Amino acid sequence: MHQDVPVLTIDGPSGAGKGTVSARVAAALGWHLLDSGAVYRAVALQALDQGLSPDSQAAADQDQLIDISQHLDLSFKPGADGIDVLLSDRIVNDRLRTEAVSVMASKSAAIPAVREALLKLQRDCRVAPGLVADGRDMGTVVFPDAQIKVFLDASVEERAQRRYKQLKEKGESVILSRLFRDMLERDRRDRERAVAPTVPAADAVVIDSTHLSLDQVVEAILQLA
Ligand code: C5P
Repeated sequence: MHQDVPVLTIDGPSGAGKGTVSARVAAALGWHLLDSGAVYRAVALQALDQGLSPDSQAAADQDQLIDISQHLDLSFKPGADGIDVLLSDRIVNDRLRTEAVSVMASKSAAIPAVREALLKLQRDCRVAPGLVADGRDMGTVVFPDAQIKVFLDASVEERAQRRYKQLKEKGESVILSRLFRDMLERDRRDRERAVAPTVPAADAVVIDSTHLSLDQVVEAILQLA
């Protein structure tokens, strides 16, 4: 079915610049874009709205998270400022980007049944003429047959600095040392989890963006494509 449609996967840890790079690459190729982080963030937002706590280990809360993932009413539409993410028909772009949602998303994403429930929604984004898929497990789990796989990395110091700037620009009050600590913690959780850890696919090209500009990274990926 979708198998003939080309996919370019861009995986890597948070703050490596995947979001901006993926949007630029998709625009240059004229392909669709899947921001899979937004899918996990949408689950997290809905869970927080329903009063779930990121620290809860209670079985009933985990069941509720799984239920949210199975019935997620999520869509993407072209918006004034790129792509709008709609959760139950409400635009939630800004609400998805808070630190509270980041923490909840990373914790929910470690639950295998949550990941399983979100697979179809992500694979359905594979639509002609092609898809650029941004995430952690795009090349390893969701689209293992992707034609081009990139793993975009950067030092944790650089990633924390980038995220700090981003949040500041949005008017969120953040403390760099705390952001750095939370990022290390989230990296560890994403990398060491049993299912779909953030690791490069065996056939991925690894690009370290620590000392590269956005243009240089986009150019390098377009060369591969
Ligand atoms: O990429 P972004 O920071 O928006 O992702 C938020 C969280 O969602 C990550 O910390 C990660 O735990 C989870 N995620 C994932 N698999 C993906 C994309 C995101 O587990 N493909």
